[in-house]
Amino acid sequence: MEADLKADLKSLAEEQPLYALKEIVMRHEGQKGAAIPILQDIQGVFGYISPEMLQRAGEFSGIPVNDLYSIVTFYAQFRLEPIGKNLIQICHGTACHLAGAEKITESLQFETKAPAGKTSEDGLFTLEKVACLGCCSLAPVMTINEETFGHLSPDGVRKVIRETRKISSAEKSREEVTS
Ligand code: FES
Repeated sequence: MEADLKADLKSLAEEQPLYALKEIVMRHEGQKGAAIPILQDIQGVFGYISPEMLQRAGEFSGIPVNDLYSIVTFYAQFRLEPIGKNLIQICHGTACHLAGAEKITESLQFETKAPAGKTSEDGLFTLEKVACLGCCSLAPVMTINEETFGHLSPDGVRKVIRETRKISSAEKSREEVTS
């Protein structure tokens, strides 16, 4: 899904989630083998796929909900629980592994307080180990909300996470004041 469209659908999803979900499904109308692309787009916009989203996706697309359920439980790429404010994906492909991804992951876990595959208790970080991110010359690599950070060191990770925490906390306070 193109970045602009994704951003539009994300803001629509905040106001009218059901309408956004319908829009996503309708974009694939008539497309053969649409189930996986629909589910990928739902996750891209909402960050995860809940049982209710599956139900609605089935209703809007005509694809049996059981089929959708089998797909999301079979493929590891699908998340069934909400993610934190910042999604961190740390690469464990061969190049990153050789360049010290394990140490970087330990540092990330320490700084974010999120175990690998989980979300921190404060809801700020979700940490995922992933396969090659496609930029091996930058190994070891991670992404935070689609921004790429390469040539990582434990110290570099600490700085990036502390900065991200500062920005996220400031945003949270702003949201609390305006809500
Ligand atoms: S192995 Fe990490 S980006 Fe390719």
